[in-house]
Order: sequence, then C-alpha cells, then structure tokens
Amino acid sequence: MNMSSEGAARSYTTTIHYYDGSSREALVTDQETVFPRGELIVSQTDARGIITTCNDAFVLMSGYSKEELIGAPHSILRHPDMPAVAFADLWETVQAGKRWHGYVKNLRKDGGFYWVHAVVIPKIRDGVIIGHTSVRREPSREKIAEAAAAYAELRAKRGMD
Ligand SMILES: Cc1cc2nc3c(=O)[nH]c(=O)nc-3n(C[C@H](O)[C@H](O)[C@H](O)COP(=O)(O)O)c2cc1C
Repeated sequence: MNMSSEGAARSYTTTIHYYDGSSREALVTDQETVFPRGELIVSQTDARGIITTCNDAFVLMSGYSKEELIGAPHSILRHPDMPAVAFADLWETVQAGKRWHGYVKNLRKDGGFYWVHAVVIPKIRDGVIIGHTSVRREPSREKIAEAAAAYAELRAKRGMD
C-alpha cells in the first residue's frame, strides 16, 4: 500500500480482490461525493451482474461515462472497505429469488467514494432469474457510521477481504 498526502485528499493505491480470484490496482482517496438530494441511482443488470442500463445519477456519482458502464460488471464500483461477505449475502439472497437491501460504500473512477442504501431486486420470468434491478437512495449519516463500523469489524475478522 502506497500512502501519499498531496493536496487536500489523502490517497493510496491498493489491490482490490474479487470473488472469482481476479484483482485490479485502484486509487483510493478519502474524498466523499455526497448523494444528490432527492435523486435515485438506478441500474439494471443481466443475471451475472453486468450493467445493461443506468441513469444519469449513476453516471454522475460513479465518475465513469455511460459507455464505460454499460457492459461492465457491477464490481467496477467495489470499494476495498467493503467486506466480501456483504456481497456474498447479496448474491445468495437474490439467487434465492428474494430482494436484498443494505448499505454499500462505492468506489468512484477517480478514487473517491459514495455511500448508498441499495435495494437489489431479481427479475424472474418463468422461474428463471433473467436480471436484476438496483435502486439506491441517500443513507442517513447515522446509518453510514453504523455500516462503516460494522464493515470495519467484519474486515478485521476476515483479514484479507
Ligand atoms: C443489481 C446489482 C447491483 C449491484 N450494485 C453494486 C454496487 O453498487 N457496488 C458494488 O460494489 N457491488 C454491487 N453489486 C455486487 C457486485 O456484482 C459484486 O458482487 C461486488 O462488487 C463484489 O465483487 P465480486 O463479487 O466480484 O467480488 C451489485 C450486484 C447486482 C446484481
């Protein structure tokens, strides 16, 4: 991990590990983008979590262009502070045909972050999951603090997540 403290934002580069064993190097800063008041961040994915549509608020908050997002896996937003077990729970829940909700810290393209309260709903046709819809709204500061503490504890327990 390389720490630097140039300018206002503290930043470091780290390796983000994915469930499938792949990884990528990413810049992470302590710069928060606050949720746009009254907006919802919406996306749809195929059955594997590849983004098929997203709204303008998603583009704005993620820092990626729409072209970069469509066709990319949702894990493009994975923040290293998120414990893997949170996503294991998400996938287990939607694969059982149920809706999942939870607090997620997302990583922007520029290394900054934003917190969301996400609801993920599986789309089921004739008993088969054909995709998912996710709608995210602004979490309260209190819930963000609670989720951040819970995730830090989970990550400390699991070590590598
Ligand atoms: C509809 C939907 C929305 C998702 N939204 C996010 C998200 O906003 N941020 C995120 O990190 N992962 C999100 N995920 C979970 C990712 O697919 C992925 O599991 C996670 O980023 C961790 O990566 P990994 O499973 O490859 O380890 C979403 C999944 C689905 C199906």
